[in-house]
Amino acid sequence: MRAAAARAASTTHRILLPLFLFAALCESDPDLLLDYCVADTAAAASLHLNGLPCIDPARARAEHFATSALSRATNPSSATPFGFNATVTSPAASLPGANAQGLAMARVDLAPGGVAPPHSHPRASEVALVLAGSVLVGFADTSYRLYTQLLRAGEAFVFPRGMVHFMYNVDVAAPAVVLSGLNSQSPGAQLVPLSAFRTEPRMPEEILEKAFKINGQDVHRIQRNLGG
Ligand SMILES: *[C@@H]1O[C@H](CO)[C@@H](O)[C@H](O)[C@H]1NC(C)=O
Repeated sequence: MRAAAARAASTTHRILLPLFLFAALCESDPDLLLDYCVADTAAAASLHLNGLPCIDPARARAEHFATSALSRATNPSSATPFGFNATVTSPAASLPGANAQGLAMARVDLAPGGVAPPHSHPRASEVALVLAGSVLVGFADTSYRLYTQLLRAGEAFVFPRGMVHFMYNVDVAAPAVVLSGLNSQSPGAQLVPLSAFRTEPRMPEEILEKAFKINGQDVHRIQRNLGG
């Protein structure tokens, strides 16, 4: 019995240890070998890198590490059918100094009653800080357990990497603003309603009918409501 248990334990070790090492290696964007790698946004696009090529470090200036991309309020009501809009920094467009640093920032504008609908960031964990307003946030884990919290200005919440989450401005009279930090320069975003109902080309109708237990009319109504 004891020998069998020891064998089982060592088998478990053989399987779990490499898995653990693999997970540790995969945790965030790759480590940097330089102090910084200011994105060379003018570099020829013929070279495909995991990130952007760097300019000569001697040419780096303070402005490369600064951005005003998050200073401007956007118009969430006209941006999406959900009443939210997100501005995410990117090394190519707004923050070249963040290239290869494994981070991005996002400003989320929420209209009164607006929602950033359930979505996930495949490559980043996120910490969201409410700058203004009252925002109900939450995420579902892979066991479909839901964690929610009502945040006031100055309060923050973590969305673990890849988990489906939302932000809802519970105030129907005032807008809300959320500032997020993400631990990838390319977090990616997949909105659940759009992944199901607004793909190009469209997901076969039977799949949507069967997945959501709805009929063809429901499918078309949802697609129309989502601007399709
Ligand atoms: C939504 O945000 C994006 C990114 O900042 C911006 O380009 C766009 O103009 C915004 N849309 C509206 C309607 O404000």
